[in-house]
Amino acid sequence: MDHPIPKTMGQQFGRRSWAEPWKIKMVEPIKMIDRATRENALRAAGYNTFLLRSEDVYIDLLTDSGTSAMSDRQWAGIMLGDEAYAGSRNFYRLEQAIQEYYGYPYVVPTHQGRGAEHLISQALIKPGHYIPGNMYFTTTRLHQELAGGTFVDVIIDEAHDPANLHPFKGNIDLDKLRSLIDQVGASNIPYVSLAGTVNMAGGQPVSMANVRQLRELCDRHGMRIYLDATRMYENSLFIQEREDGYQQKTIAQILKEFCSYTDGAWMSAKKDNLVNIGGWLAVRDAELFDNLRNLVVIYEGLHTYGGMAGRDMEALAIGIAEGVEDDQVRARVGQVRYLGELLTDWEIPIVQPVGGHAIFLDARSFYPHIPQDQFPAQTLAAQLYLDSGVRSMERGVISAGRDPATGQHRYPKLELTRLTIPRRVYTQAHMDVVAESVKAAYDNRRQTRGLMMVYEPQYLRFFQARFEPVQE
Ligand SMILES: Cc1ncc(COP(=O)(O)O)c(C=O)c1O
Repeated sequence: MDHPIPKTMGQQFGRRSWAEPWKIKMVEPIKMIDRATRENALRAAGYNTFLLRSEDVYIDLLTDSGTSAMSDRQWAGIMLGDEAYAGSRNFYRLEQAIQEYYGYPYVVPTHQGRGAEHLISQALIKPGHYIPGNMYFTTTRLHQELAGGTFVDVIIDEAHDPANLHPFKGNIDLDKLRSLIDQVGASNIPYVSLAGTVNMAGGQPVSMANVRQLRELCDRHGMRIYLDATRMYENSLFIQEREDGYQQKTIAQILKEFCSYTDGAWMSAKKDNLVNIGGWLAVRDAELFDNLRNLVVIYEGLHTYGGMAGRDMEALAIGIAEGVEDDQVRARVGQVRYLGELLTDWEIPIVQPVGGHAIFLDARSFYPHIPQDQFPAQTLAAQLYLDSGVRSMERGVISAGRDPATGQHRYPKLELTRLTIPRRVYTQAHMDVVAESVKAAYDNRRQTRGLMMVYEPQYLRFFQARFEPVQE
């Protein structure tokens, strides 16, 4: 043999290999367009990967939101849609699934996560309020600000350092929260906005110990905790793996315990719950529920569909139960880790430890010569697309937006390009192609120049802003 003996991935790491707990029944063809066509497509999209046509993309790692492959059982559920305007039986199935797996008694359906964020923000936030949270999320913070609140980041400092190996980088720094309470008073804090995992920090988890201590602190001050449960299945896996006493518990048991320390949750069901569209809001407080049910009919739809079709609610009820299975969450996070391990071994700078839903490339370390206002992370997303047709997205200064008070860019410490892995969609071979493309961009880093923004929308600018390459 004139080549080294090949090894499976498991063997390379001295363990047995694992495989996904599903097989493929239907496929969607994809193709890579040539480099010249990619250059044209990127120029036409204003160097913003959100503005590319998906037909021009080869491997789409823009987001894990609404991009999951549904199971045969979910597709079968689509045929069971009860499209009654009021009282659809699919709503009651959804309500029951949320009660069973998350443990909250009162459920309001919404069209997706931001619909739920809108309702909870409008119901609880008054002008002048402060909302502490474990790092901002784009749509969450904007809804809090539009309701008159000010978001205050109280995540632990380690979360802002891409190289720090803290096992629970999503944790709330209780001292930061205490000093906010001292400064503004608990009565001006309508709730703590807790997310598990923390998307903008790299998909980093919150520990059970942290949420338990947070509950105690909030109880002492009569404060509420609302949870962004979007990726709580993944958060629960990290607790199972890393926190003493949870190794023998299932993801479902860990999830239920975690939620028990909170007063309610909002959800983008397009992630953990394995559907292409949907969301919900669930609470323990009957009075608040009454208010939310009143608001949902204005902004989303009747309180038994909230913007979803009956069939969507059926697929969602099934997805809630499927998504929480231990094998499913392990395979999902395992695939993200597979890509992360390759890049780590090749000494490519990524956020460590690898989080639950995505690999976050540290664009500052790629391009120390590109200043933050020439958008290193957006530049890297553009380079990856040019190299291989892989679509990623920016999570840096553009996503952070402008400070509403000063109008200046907010300069976050983390300037990241996110490769987000859809659930049950791509194979290990796709991950290999992605890894090699990241390496090609890294090898070419010194020749790469930044971008300038030529169009900036007022809200959530990362979605629609346009750029041009900086000239020498
Ligand atoms: C942590 C988190 N919260 C909220 C949302 C908003 O959800 P949606 O996109 O369904 O409106 C997202 C979506 O990306 C998210 O990642």
